Amino acid sequence: MAQFTLPKNSKYTEGKTWPKPAGAANLQEFRIYRWNPDDGANPRIDTYYVDRDDCGPMVLDALLWIKNNVDSTLVFRRSCREGICGSCAMNIMGGNTLACTLGIDDCAAGSIKIYPLPHMPVLKDLVPDLTSFFAQHASIEPWLQTETAEPETEWRQTPEERSKLDGLYECILCACCTTSCPSYWWNGDRFLGPAALLQAYRWLIDSRDENTGERLNNLHDPFRLYRCHTIMNCANTCPKGLNPAKAIAEVKKMMIARVV
Ligand code: SF4
Ligand code: SF4
Ligand code: FES
Repeated sequence: MAQFTLPKNSKYTEGKTWPKPAGAANLQEFRIYRWNPDDGANPRIDTYYVDRDDCGPMVLDALLWIKNNVDSTLVFRRSCREGICGSCAMNIMGGNTLACTLGIDDCAAGSIKIYPLPHMPVLKDLVPDLTSFFAQHASIEPWLQTETAEPETEWRQTPEERSKLDGLYECILCACCTTSCPSYWWNGDRFLGPAALLQAYRWLIDSRDENTGERLNNLHDPFRLYRCHTIMNCANTCPKGLNPAKAIAEVKKMMIARVV
């Protein structure tokens, strides 16, 4: 049997159990990944207790409650708290999702386990380093590209042309899909991953864009596009209900259509 030796500091340890809030009758336990790049210690799992009677209904509410009432050193990203900015993406109970749109009651009973998005370098606690994720998004040139002269008013689309963007424009670049993709785990330096490829298709299918050929050339590579093996983790995990695997399949169809 193959045996692997993990790097010394990759193994997490049992962390601190924080005191239960005094007088609380309705407690929820959280087990949360902690890592501080400055102290030289291994990652640890801290245990917290949240007073449900004093806390909002979402997992993000619980994280904020912990930060405000128990441990101000806990680090995580958030902004909109309504599923629009994508910044509170993390791994909760084994699935990638948004902490602000997942109800505490919707997590399985018992302790709620929270980790950063998987297979990304961690900057601190629940904050992953998304530098390469956003560089890959930039590489598909996510803006309208045209040859014809700028119209005096707006670039026009029929309702039918506009409807082709449904299921694509809603992507908030949270990275839940890309960090759940096994192909991306193994080839994340060369495979663009589901989020960037869904965005690529969003511009390929936009009737106003006039750079389709170049956009396809940019994806024509054994790794950038073709490492997708239709495993479908991306569609299962997307908190906006989008289907990156389908978008990737459509890009592959466009590749075939231009050579036959
Ligand atoms: S369908 Fe493709 S992009 Fe989506 S998780 Fe599977 S391999 Fe990754
Ligand atoms: S496709 Fe869904 S999971 Fe992927 S980045 Fe966009 S919103 Fe997030
Ligand atoms: S805080 Fe913006 S998506 Fe959760």
